[in-house]
Amino acid sequence: MQDETGAVETRIMDAIAAATDLSALEDVRVAALGKKGEVSALLKTLGGMDADDRQRLGPVFNQLKIRVTEAVQSRRATLEAEDMSRRLASETLDMTLPVDTDPQFEGRIHPVSQTMEELSAIFASMGFDVAEGPDIESGFYNFTALNIPEAHPARQMHDTFYLTAEEDGEPLLLRTHTSPVQVRTMQAGDPPFRFIAPGRTYRCDSDQTHTPMFHQIEGLVVDEATHMGHLKHTLEAFLTAFFEVDNVAIRFRPSYFPFTEPSMEVDMRCHRDGDKLVVGSGDDWMEIGGSGMVNPHVLTHAGIDVEKYQGFAFGMGIDRLAMLKYGMPDLRAFFGADLRWLKHYGFLPIDVPGLAGGLSNKSLAAK
Ligand code: PHE
Repeated sequence: MQDETGAVETRIMDAIAAATDLSALEDVRVAALGKKGEVSALLKTLGGMDADDRQRLGPVFNQLKIRVTEAVQSRRATLEAEDMSRRLASETLDMTLPVDTDPQFEGRIHPVSQTMEELSAIFASMGFDVAEGPDIESGFYNFTALNIPEAHPARQMHDTFYLTAEEDGEPLLLRTHTSPVQVRTMQAGDPPFRFIAPGRTYRCDSDQTHTPMFHQIEGLVVDEATHMGHLKHTLEAFLTAFFEVDNVAIRFRPSYFPFTEPSMEVDMRCHRDGDKLVVGSGDDWMEIGGSGMVNPHVLTHAGIDVEKYQGFAFGMGIDRLAMLKYGMPDLRAFFGADLRWLKHYGFLPIDVPGLAGGLSNKSLAAK
């Protein structure tokens, strides 16, 4: 019996050594140690033996089982290691190679960036330059030069973020609107002026339609004969192009801004079609910004001869324009850095806005 066991062991050990992959090894293991396996069958015979034989052969069979189990384990470890080296050799990644997927379809342009590009393209076609100013402003440019003196209630209305750093004894601040760029740009050049100034603005405010940082676009035209008719036409032409509709009706409502006189709020015609907001026509009005004729005090602060020059200015919320055009309900999501939101509302990098191809290139957006 012991000889026989020796022969069984040799056969099984040979089979284990001969198994060249994990599934072949598993077959050998089942054939030896499985319920109906050869070793299991030997162990089962112990039950029918007399006490002497059982005492003699019990340890023999059990040792056999232990050796076979160990042999299978060690062979499995070897095969797994071989498998791993094979995979490591065949699956190496050359990180210097360009990625497989077409990058054109991966990244997304944020709707605010897209909208700013659209605004710049439209105003550029109307002969406007693009001007810029700093986010960190002085009280002078954000308020005083815009005819908002120190004790003026409008300073409180702006919910300003003040910094601890000071300039000329006054704390610096995060600009509450893009209007300071009016003064800075006029100081740096000579009239006539025709420019827009898109950029970030800050106010201590947060709800569904307000975020502490938001975006505005300022517009300024100063020339010898600039009047309100030019302002109205400019805004109408801009809105028609931006919303890609045939025409847009607007109305002016009397308002007050210290830096314009007279001052008007600008409303645009709109109506609801089910859930959808249709802009340009209809029986409802929607406010889209502030405007007016530049207050001569502002021109004086900027060193412009008010006997010779006059002009108009307007300011609109870029985020709000984007929300209206692309149907985005919550402003806070703009700054949530949620990739799913960006994939849904963002633009493909090849959707470069231009007047020729259709501003928003809707046909190209993979949505
Ligand atoms: N700066 C104003 C605001 O933020 C908007 C505005 C700009 C009004 C230019 C008139 C002219 O509310």
